[in-house]
Amino acid sequence: MAGNGWWRTAAIYQIYLRSFADGDGDGVGDLAGLRSRLPYLRDLGVDALWLTPWNVSPMADGGYDVADYRDIDPLFGTLADAERFLAEAHEQGLRVLVDLVPNHCSDAHPWFRAALAAPPGDPARERFWFRPGRGPSGERPPNDWRSYFGGPAWTRVADGEWYLHMFAPQQPELNWEHAGVRAEFEDVLRFWFDRGVDGFRIDVAHGLMKTPGLPDVGAAPDPADLPYQDHEGVHEIYRAWRSIADSYEDPRVFVGEVWLPTTAQFVRYLRPDELHSAFNFEFLCCAWEPNAIRKTIDDTLDTHRLVGAPPTWVLSNHDTIRHVTRYGREDTTFDLGNRRHGAFTDPALGHRRARAAALLTLSLPGGVYVYQGDELGLAEVEDIPLDRIQDPTWERSEHTDRGRDGCRVPLPWSGTEPPFGFSPPGSAQPWLPQPPAWSTRTVESQEPDASSMLRLYREALAIRGERLVTLPESITWLTSDDGVLSFRRGENFACVANFTTTPARLPAHTELLLTSEPLAGGLLPADGCAWLAL
Ligand code: GLC
Repeated sequence: MAGNGWWRTAAIYQIYLRSFADGDGDGVGDLAGLRSRLPYLRDLGVDALWLTPWNVSPMADGGYDVADYRDIDPLFGTLADAERFLAEAHEQGLRVLVDLVPNHCSDAHPWFRAALAAPPGDPARERFWFRPGRGPSGERPPNDWRSYFGGPAWTRVADGEWYLHMFAPQQPELNWEHAGVRAEFEDVLRFWFDRGVDGFRIDVAHGLMKTPGLPDVGAAPDPADLPYQDHEGVHEIYRAWRSIADSYEDPRVFVGEVWLPTTAQFVRYLRPDELHSAFNFEFLCCAWEPNAIRKTIDDTLDTHRLVGAPPTWVLSNHDTIRHVTRYGREDTTFDLGNRRHGAFTDPALGHRRARAAALLTLSLPGGVYVYQGDELGLAEVEDIPLDRIQDPTWERSEHTDRGRDGCRVPLPWSGTEPPFGFSPPGSAQPWLPQPPAWSTRTVESQEPDASSMLRLYREALAIRGERLVTLPESITWLTSDDGVLSFRRGENFACVANFTTTPARLPAHTELLLTSEPLAGGLLPADGCAWLAL
């Protein structure tokens, strides 16, 4: 194993705070709700939590529009609640990562308010990207960049200048060439590290710097060479942050949200003096198909080995289509630019494959991310009434993309009807409606059922913690029948995944540790995965 540190093998559970558990009855998840569910997370067997943004925010993009980086949004609680939560999580043996959103802030942030109040050319505007427009009266945006949420990446202000936002207009891009911006975020890191936060998930980690002159991208841009992502200058920022993280007695860690088209670009963020780890979106986007999966696993292990970083595995998050749904479709890949909402889905097939995928990812070397609800087998909610949709993608795409709300529906905990224990009795309705069919997906209904997704995750995480995390960061492929992937870790453990439609033979073993489907006549059923002791 290259170096050590809890984060190299951690199972990290992603909390989408607005949808995890509501303590105060307003229909939105919060810190009080999360604190009351810490025993659940401890019993699940994860090592750490990653919380999506908890800072003060007008919530134009679910908190990814931060107005005060040093305080907690009242929707979630107070700074004192955050400190209590950190202490209680640590008492339960859970580390805590929180989201840091450095690429942009909220249009309600005092810096942006000051920039708007100042005239063109004023230093207050230099923390952002203000530019005059093109055309005789500046009526056209300064360049041709498009927002990731749809529409132009520029909005015009009253005095005629335009400002850049790669996401919603309420998320103005910060100018990372500005020394004050850098100093501010270094201070924000220390602020939270000093309060006991164990690390940060870095939002849009590839986006902070822009090519000078902000050149047009043109009609057919090369995705590996865009002027608004993966600029060489970002690496210097992360080197500075790494030295801050390393200065703590119990060193703090970073996981980067690095969406880039090539692994050569991606892996540079993981050099030993930069980020500790990054999400493996190549794996998340990969088809549930044996050759593609095997190739992605090999690529992942090879590239991470180059820089000594631990590989990571992730199936779903708050921006994607839940994999129970994806894996039940004909096209099982994920594409950020085309979510294929409403594509035909076979829910039983998706569920079986999701069980197999859980065992596959939990057995691979490195770190693993579990998105809240993965462990309950939740599917994407594809029928949220259009007038209830909150994701800015819906409006920005001119109602062509329903966006990400379908994977953000509040969790079902107990009971037979909404809000399924998400909020205390007599509360406001959950901020997104829950499907009535979730009565069979609650924690309460799955706990006593040995064949449930929840029990599968619990058992797998327990076995992983006991016997897998100490194994080397490598795998050895075993020969297997067509459409079956089989690998060994160390001398005594093997994982076998059957991607075919017929039962598969298992290699010789001394003990069947866990299976996603019961064996039939000693064979591993279609879409099944098994863990074996050798
Ligand atoms: C990241 C977040 C996403 C957010 C965007 C803008 O991709 O995961 O939810 O909308 O950044 O901050």
